[in-house]
Amino acid sequence: MIETNRLIIRELEFSDDKDLFEMDVDPEVHLFLGNSPVKALSEITAVINMLKKQYDENGIARWAVVDKSTNECIGWSGLKLFKERINNHENFYELGYRFKKKHWGKGFATESSEAILKYGFENLHVDKIFAYTDSKNLNSKKVLSKLGFENKGTFDCDGEFCDWFELEKSNFIAR
Ligand SMILES: CC(C)(COP(=O)(O)OP(=O)(O)OC[C@H]1O[C@@H](n2cnc3c(N)ncnc32)[C@H](O)[C@@H]1OP(=O)(O)O)[C@@H](O)C(=O)NCCC(=O)NCCS
Repeated sequence: MIETNRLIIRELEFSDDKDLFEMDVDPEVHLFLGNSPVKALSEITAVINMLKKQYDENGIARWAVVDKSTNECIGWSGLKLFKERINNHENFYELGYRFKKKHWGKGFATESSEAILKYGFENLHVDKIFAYTDSKNLNSKKVLSKLGFENKGTFDCDGEFCDWFELEKSNFIAR
């Protein structure tokens, strides 16, 4: 468990299903994620199952982000051990995040990611962490730039343009 000023970051539990459903049923949340919001709670249960498998196999995966003041799970953020090949890279840690729309613009992606990157560099002993996002996803690109990631240019991801980002340990300043 990681604690920041406003957040608790922990493994996802099945009891987070309704919060994740509220997030993932929203078409705006999925605008740059392939435009296929979920339709049923069972799809969320399957996602949590998949993430629990990743916790077991890799020791890490996306984590729940909980607002300390309300105890609400507002979304997820975290490092995925990316084993498949993408943009000529494989076996790397990739940062990702997703929040309920009503909580956007409050700095939660930045605050949770800072703590998670610190964990990655200090506990997983990696020298570099990667991220990528749809080139049109300006909010996500802004978050990555604020965190110190360097934009290494675009590549083709499933027929869309994506931007590829890299963060060297030496360029990460944990606040
Ligand atoms: C991308 C996403 C995670 C950003 O989360 P967030 O908590 O809003 O991020 P932050 O508040 O830390 O930073 C957001 C930046 O977006 C902009 N922003 C400002 N107001 C905003 C608002 N009302 N809504 C969205 N973004 C806003 C700002 O540029 C802000 O940077 P600033 O604080 O320096 O001005 C969120 O928009 C989201 O969940 N999107 C849907 C899922 C997704 O696209 N995930 C990323 C896939 S790569």
